[in-house]
Amino acid sequence: MKVMSVFGTRPEAIKMAPLVRKLQEAPDVESVLCVTAQHREMLDQVLELFELVPDYDLNIMKPNQTLSMITANVIRGIEEVLVREKPDVVLVHGDTSTTFASALAAFYQQIPVGHVEAGLRTYDPYSPFPEEMNRVLTSDIAAMHFAPTERNRQNLLREGIRFEDIFVTGNTVIDALLEVAGKPYEFEDDALKNIDFASRRVITVTCHRRENLGEYMENIFTAIRDLADRFEDVEIVYPVHLNPKVREEAGRILGSRERIHLIDPLSYQPFVNLMAKSYFIITDSGGMQEEAPSLGKPVLVVRRETERPEAVEAGTVRLAGVERDHIYQIAESLLTDPAYYANMAEAVNPYGDGQASERILTALRNRF
Ligand code: UD1
Ligand code: UDP
Repeated sequence: MKVMSVFGTRPEAIKMAPLVRKLQEAPDVESVLCVTAQHREMLDQVLELFELVPDYDLNIMKPNQTLSMITANVIRGIEEVLVREKPDVVLVHGDTSTTFASALAAFYQQIPVGHVEAGLRTYDPYSPFPEEMNRVLTSDIAAMHFAPTERNRQNLLREGIRFEDIFVTGNTVIDALLEVAGKPYEFEDDALKNIDFASRRVITVTCHRRENLGEYMENIFTAIRDLADRFEDVEIVYPVHLNPKVREEAGRILGSRERIHLIDPLSYQPFVNLMAKSYFIITDSGGMQEEAPSLGKPVLVVRRETERPEAVEAGTVRLAGVERDHIYQIAESLLTDPAYYANMAEAVNPYGDGQASERILTALRNRF
């Protein structure tokens, strides 16, 4: 069985790394890894940590790239690789433009696609944008759907996907998380080394979504600045995404302030350790909504919706919206009301047990 895995951004790489490693170790599998490098530095951080060396690197990233640029360059770049390698199946992950464009390119070669992290939905095509459309279109193309949860399977069944093509596996992010969180680690970053995590309450922040750019991001950052101004024992740590638009806005509102640390993106191992030592998390990231429940860390999701209701139902994640006052009030409750905090800080595992990659490999073996 020849399996080609394709990914291009940081979260896809983290979530595909455990699976690609399994494919490489399997004696009955020929594994080919193609990265689009829709992200460059943030992808390379993950490749290095998990010791993955791509067979093909399309190196498509451009500063301030548009969606059309990513999509066109991925389709064009991957065609050649597919024609040369002729894999039995192409694995894509999640909902990025790399995901959709690679799935479409594989379809053009009539090569079956396996979709890892299938079946997440908000049912709003513009939120998250363009990810909701990317995943819906990828579901239409895919021949095998690896759904993290039972709810994801139900979403796919409602869209007419056949039961026998859906495999509920858990989310591979938990495979990655458990591997990395289990290893001893000490911070190397100067800002992190100098924080006394025992006496300070650290709030980890990330924010980067396209649909939040502009007014919403300004609201989110202002609420975070308000928190730092009001609570003197709080330290904000924000590893800022390399998107120049995000960096500019973060610097403008949160820069040069005491107890707000704007740092470069962290590699996955220091980042997991930062989450584990934090009091709580404010984010618009998808992946962190899946990781935080396993770590028992409350998460305020600064978005208008979430495709991860399992984490909300489990109690760890709260949808905080994109309005300054609302975000501030929920964060204030977490900082001032111990019972409110305790309710959200219980470790639960709605996204799996760390065996998702193994289940995906088994399903592939049975099919091919
Ligand atoms: C992309 C995905 C989004 C995912 C996110 C994870 C799409 C449309 N969006 O969004 O689903 O949640 O990645 O982070 O697929 N940049 C660098 N170096 C890097 C990475 C990014 O300089 O290593 C800069 C570049 O200027 C690039 C910009 O960030 O043009 C935006 O990157 P892009 O992949 O287009 O969008 P993201 O917002 O990162
Ligand atoms: N992450 C990381 N370093 C950072 C910030 C995040 O390794 O500085 C990890 C995080 O733990 C999660 C993933 O990157 O696994 C989330 O990626 P991102 O926020 O880029 O994308 P999203 O989850 O929103 O798709």
